Amino acid sequence: METNTKFRTSNPDETHVYFLSFSVVMIIEHLFHPVIRDKAVLERTVSYYVRIISHKYLYWNRSLGADHFMLSCHDWGPRATWYVRQLYYNSIRVLCNANTSEHFNPKKDASFPEINLKTGEITGLTGGSPPSNHTVLTFFAGKMHGKLRPTLFQHWMGKDEDVQVYETLPQGISYHEMMKKSRYCICPSGHEVASPRIAEAIYADCVPVLISQHYIFPFSDVLDWDSFTVQVPVTEIPDLKNILEAIPEDQYSRMQERVKQVQRHFLVNNPPERYDVFNMIIPSIWLRRLNVRF
Ligand SMILES: *[C@@H]1O[C@H](CO)[C@@H](O)[C@H](O)[C@H]1NC(C)=O
Ligand SMILES: *[C@@H]1O[C@H](CO)[C@@H](O)[C@H](O)[C@H]1NC(C)=O
Ligand SMILES: *[C@@H]1O[C@H](CO)[C@@H](O)[C@H](O)[C@H]1NC(C)=O
Repeated sequence: METNTKFRTSNPDETHVYFLSFSVVMIIEHLFHPVIRDKAVLERTVSYYVRIISHKYLYWNRSLGADHFMLSCHDWGPRATWYVRQLYYNSIRVLCNANTSEHFNPKKDASFPEINLKTGEITGLTGGSPPSNHTVLTFFAGKMHGKLRPTLFQHWMGKDEDVQVYETLPQGISYHEMMKKSRYCICPSGHEVASPRIAEAIYADCVPVLISQHYIFPFSDVLDWDSFTVQVPVTEIPDLKNILEAIPEDQYSRMQERVKQVQRHFLVNNPPERYDVFNMIIPSIWLRRLNVRF
């Protein structure tokens, strides 16, 4: 928002939607004690923040928070909003952890892709490879956590050379190279519904295989996730290989082509560029703002 001033105004009377500029990551980093682990610090800080802005400015009370938005990719993003009813039920929450079992409401909340920016930038992560380089049927590497990964490991770890599933990658094998070499990249939920693998697979021209429950995919207002991903129900994990092998070659090519087409919507640029992740989330917020009438 700071480098692209096109969408920003400091005139409150011109404002369509107000940004709640608290950071869950900063609260955890600076106020949360790693030993005491008192999560009430989230409650105190976020309640205090909303109390201040609602007393200081007229705008919160005017809409009871409905034309205000917060954004968080932290696992505890949803939790940070529990404590203030109006924030939870009225405000637009832009969350990576878009779990409908935790009252993520797609009519007013927006799902944001989880992107793991190890160096702060996406340089080095993007750049797929031609279809002929995708010689491995499917690949996954990641920790055993959450409810459905144990099923994936139980059925596929070390079982079949076409389904390469690892908890730890063997020495000398690169995670990113494996994604570039695979036709399908398995993206299962862990503790939380979102996985940075979805964006990583898209960057690597690898068709994402989504295994999740209660997850609202990012930018679902405009992206047709069925057209560029395979969605496998948890109960069909044992059948994963058959499901992928049964996909005809021309359908695979179409999906892979579309993965390349949607890639630009998951790119992080500074300053933002047309159609990138920033320019996708702005209209998502705007669409939800349109639902509000005073
Ligand atoms: C907004 O409402 C709260 C609670 O009713 C009240 O305490 C506060 O003073 C109001 N804010 C403004 C700016 O009037
Ligand atoms: C495709 O595979 C070939 C042979 O392994 C390799 O030399 C080439 O760099 C790969 N292309 C990309 C874009 O990764
Ligand atoms: C989603 O939310 C429900 C309810 O809080 C929780 O049980 C579940 O573990 C969460 N995560 C996933 C991946 O479903």
